[in-house]
Amino acid sequence: MDIQPPATSLVFPDSITFNKFFKPVRIEADVFDLEVEGQIPTVLQGAFYRLGADTQYPPYLGHDIYLNGDGMMTMVRMENGHADLRTRFIQTERFKAERAARRSLYGRYRNPYTDTPEVRGKDRGTANTTAFWFGGKLYALKEDNRPTEMNPHTLETIGYTDFGGTLKGRTFTAHPKIDPRTGNMIAFAYNSDALVSNFIYLYEVAPSGVVIREERFEAPYSSMIHDFLVSENYIAFTLYPMLADQKRVEAGGPFFSWDPSHQTMVAIIPRGQGVAGLRWYHSPKLCMETHTMNAWEEGSVLHLEHFISNSGWYSQFPHVSDPNPKEEPPFGQRWSFDLSNPADEYIVTPMVPHPGEMPVVDGRFSGSYCQHIFFGAINTQLGPMLDWGPMGPPFNCLAHLDQKTGAISHYYPGANASTEEPVFVAKSDTAPEGDGWLISVIGRRDENRSDVVILDSMDLAAGPVATIRVPFRLRYAFHGCWVTAAELDWGL
Ligand SMILES: [Fe+2]
Repeated sequence: MDIQPPATSLVFPDSITFNKFFKPVRIEADVFDLEVEGQIPTVLQGAFYRLGADTQYPPYLGHDIYLNGDGMMTMVRMENGHADLRTRFIQTERFKAERAARRSLYGRYRNPYTDTPEVRGKDRGTANTTAFWFGGKLYALKEDNRPTEMNPHTLETIGYTDFGGTLKGRTFTAHPKIDPRTGNMIAFAYNSDALVSNFIYLYEVAPSGVVIREERFEAPYSSMIHDFLVSENYIAFTLYPMLADQKRVEAGGPFFSWDPSHQTMVAIIPRGQGVAGLRWYHSPKLCMETHTMNAWEEGSVLHLEHFISNSGWYSQFPHVSDPNPKEEPPFGQRWSFDLSNPADEYIVTPMVPHPGEMPVVDGRFSGSYCQHIFFGAINTQLGPMLDWGPMGPPFNCLAHLDQKTGAISHYYPGANASTEEPVFVAKSDTAPEGDGWLISVIGRRDENRSDVVILDSMDLAAGPVATIRVPFRLRYAFHGCWVTAAELDWGL
C-alpha cells in the first residue's frame, strides 16, 4: 500500500495567532470535581458557559486570524460547592468537513472565495463568539451565521435555528440583548441579504423562540457592527469605517479593512416608532466601538456607554493603506444625546482612565441607569502589560467602576496572568443593582493552565472567594453566560 503524506502541514504556524499562550488547545474534556480553593457561593447552582475559537487544523493558507477559529464551548457545572468541567467543539458543517478530510479546507475569515474546491459553496459558520441562554435554550452565536442550538447538558450540537421558520435572514448578531422589562430578545443582523450589504435588520424575539418583529434600514456604508445598545425606548448603532468590500473579498483579500476616509456615525431608533424614526448623528472624531456597556435615558437625553478606540484596535484587520497603523486601545466613554435638540451633536464623557474592554452590567437593570460596570482592563499600576497576543495585549486585571462615586476597584490575578470577560450573577433576585458574583477565566501563563475565579462584585480587591483549578489551558475565549440549575431543570 502506498503511503500518502498529508496534503497540508499538520503543524500550526509559529505566528501570534497560534503560538505561546494562544496555541490551539483542542481538548474535548470531561473532568469531574475540579480542585476548588475556597468556597463556591451556595447561590451558584448552575452552569457557567463560555465560547471561543480553538482552531482544529493548521490553516491551509499558512496564516489566519484568531476570529476564524472553530467554536469551542466550555461548561463549568457548579453543584453544592463542586465544579465539573466539560469542553466540546461545536460540530459545524465546517468542523465536520475538515475532520473528515483531516486537514484545513476553508480559507480566510468570511471569505468563501478562498476556500478549497471541496467545500466551495458549503456553509462556513464557526459558531465561536457567544454562549447565550434564551427561552430555555443554549446557543452558540457568531455574527455571520444563524444561532447554533446546543444541548446545555451534553454540549452536543443540535444545529442552526431559524426560530421555527420566523428568522428569514442568514445572519444574527453575537450580542443580542434581553429586555428585562419584557423578557424579549432584541437583536440585529448585518451582511444578511448578501455577503456584503448596507442593510441592517432589527429583530425582536419572544421567549417562546419566535421572531415577533423584523425591520430593516440602510446604512451609508457596509461596516462591521459587532455590538449595539438598547435602552428602554431606543436602539442605537455605532457605524465605523471597518469596511467590508465585495471586490476585495472576491480578490481573496481580507473581509474587513480600516478605512479612515469614512466618518464614524451613530443611528438612533425609537423602539416604538421603529426605523421610520431613525436619526443619524456624525461623530466629531474618527473612532470605533468595540463592545457596549449599557444605554439609559434621563429625560430627553439618551446616554450610550461603550468602549471606544480611535483606531481598529483588536480588530485583526488591516488598515486600507497604512501597513503599520498606530493602534490605540479602547477606553470607556459615555455619549449623551439630547434628543429634543435637532442639532447633529452629542457630548462625550470619559469614564475610565485606563484601557478596558468586555464590559458587563447587572442584566436585571440593563437599559436603565446602572451604577456598577465591570470589565477586563489593562492597568499598569498593578503590574506590567502581558505579552502581546493576537488581539492586542491581554487584560491584566478585572475592574469595577462605581459610576456614582467614580471609584474604580480592581482584581489583579498576579504576575503573568490574564483575565477574560467577567460574567455577572446577582446574589439574589432582590439584591441591589450590581451586587453579585463575577465569574472569569484566568490564564496562568507561567503554568500553561487556567483557573476559573469567582469574585464578590462589590469587593474585587479581596480576591476570589473560590478558585476552580483547571488542570490544562482553556484557550482565550470571548463571551459567556450563567444559567441556573432551575433553568437547566436539574430538579435540585
Ligand atoms: Fe463580542
